[in-house]
Formats: sequence, C-alpha cells, structure tokens
Amino acid sequence: MSVAAVVTAAGSGSRLGADVPKALFPLAGRSLVAWAVLQVADACDDIVVTAPAAHVADVKAALAAVPELAGRPMLVIAGGAERQQSVAAAIDALFADDRTPPDIILVHDAARAFQDSDVTRAAIAAVRAGADGAIPVLEVVDTLVEATGPDGELGATVDRDGLRAVQTPQVFGAEMLHTAHRDFATARATDDAQLVRASGGKVVAVAGHESGFKVTRPSDLPLARHYATELLAKEQ
Ligand code: CTP
Ligand code: MG
Repeated sequence: MSVAAVVTAAGSGSRLGADVPKALFPLAGRSLVAWAVLQVADACDDIVVTAPAAHVADVKAALAAVPELAGRPMLVIAGGAERQQSVAAAIDALFADDRTPPDIILVHDAARAFQDSDVTRAAIAAVRAGADGAIPVLEVVDTLVEATGPDGELGATVDRDGLRAVQTPQVFGAEMLHTAHRDFATARATDDAQLVRASGGKVVAVAGHESGFKVTRPSDLPLARHYATELLAKEQ
C-alpha cells in the first residue's frame, strides 16, 4: 500500500513572532519544515508540502538544501487561509488526474517537526491493519477547568483521566480522507480526524511522544533546538 505525506507548513507562525514564517525558522542548520519532512520521509513514497503563498520558492529552497532529501518525490504547493484548506489543497494535488492516488495519507504539521518516527510507523501500521484512521495521543498533565463566563469565572473541573491531547502525524485511508475533506469543507475542524469521524470513519489512538510537541511560542525553541541537535548527532 502506497503512503503519501501531507506536511502542513503554510502558517505564518504569528505566535512565534519570528521575522520568517515558522516553517523557515532555522534550528541546528535546517529549517523547521526540513526537520519535519526528514522525520516522516522514510515512511512515505510521496510528499506534498503546503507553504505560505508568498514563500513557495523559499520552502522549496529550504528542502532542496538538505542532501538527505535529494531525489525524493516532493511537491510544494501554496496552502490556504486556514490549516484545513491547506490540507484540502494538498489532498487535491495527490488526487490530481495525472497522478496515481496513494492508498494511505499521513497528515503532519511541520510545527511538530521532531515527532518520534516510531509514532509515525505505529499510526501507519494501524491503518494498514484496517483502521480508517490512527492518531497519536498523549495523556493530559494539567488540571483542566471549564471557563464558562468572563475571565475569572470558573465552571467545573474536568476529569482529565478521560481526555487525551492529540498530535500529528494523523494517518488515514486516502479515499476516506479525500471524501471527508470534500464533504465537510465548510466545517471548522482543528484536526483531520474530526472530519473523518464526522464522515463515519473509525479512528483509533496510538501512543504519541513528547517529542511531537507543537513548536508554537519562542519558549518552545530551546526544546526544539535540543531535539534538532540530538537528531543531528545521531546522523553522525
Ligand atoms: N498551517 C497551514 N496552513 C495554514 C495555517 C497553518 O498549513 N493556513 C500549518 C502550520 O504551518 C503548522 C500547522 O498547520 O505547521 C499547525 O498550525 P500552527 O501551529 O497554528 O502554525 P501557525 O498557524 O503557523 O502559527 P500561529 O497560529 O501562531 O500563526
Ligand atoms: Mg495557526
């Protein structure tokens, strides 16, 4: 079964507040998007990356600068205004008339560039074994409370034992994901599993990893640099 990766990198990174889009932020000599693609490339036959419309050439250049990615089938396209639209554009590219669509699609956020590759492999294996989708999840460490009204007004404390935090890569049967994005294009979902489940797909959980945290704010950068440096050391 062929596997294609959709790596979403079209966001601006407003919370990171750097002078380049988040995907182009350099860590240990490679851009964030290059780290993300490298972490999933071995598990995939094809890769589509979504880039900010004004930075498609820059993202291509950032990926071309990594010799380890040379010769890999890779397409960089302009993303949409929201993440969901970026993913939809990438899926449409994979299902274009002049291509053979993949059997399985993995959707991964460039912002989760350091996700452990064992997590990716486990999610793909779950879909190969018959699930419509598989997503990495982690237990929630914070106490959670409902914020029912204006700041300062609190509702009930939520039982965190029954909750999980969701990461990427999220892996799906390609046809299922394509249909879900088409049928629920106007829904506003924060991940792809939500759309597939709304479509009637059965999505299972696999164990996530703390290295799959989402690089969001400047305070995330020291940890990101730590993982980048560690991965670089493993290559030598
Ligand atoms: N993304 C995308 N297209 C968009 C918005 C986001 O492909 N229109 C991607 C981002 O590049 C990122 C992932 O979706 O890899 C998760 O989004 P997030 O972490 O929120 O990144 P940004 O939207 O770039 O950051 P911010 O919300 O701080 O601006
Ligand atoms: Mg965002």
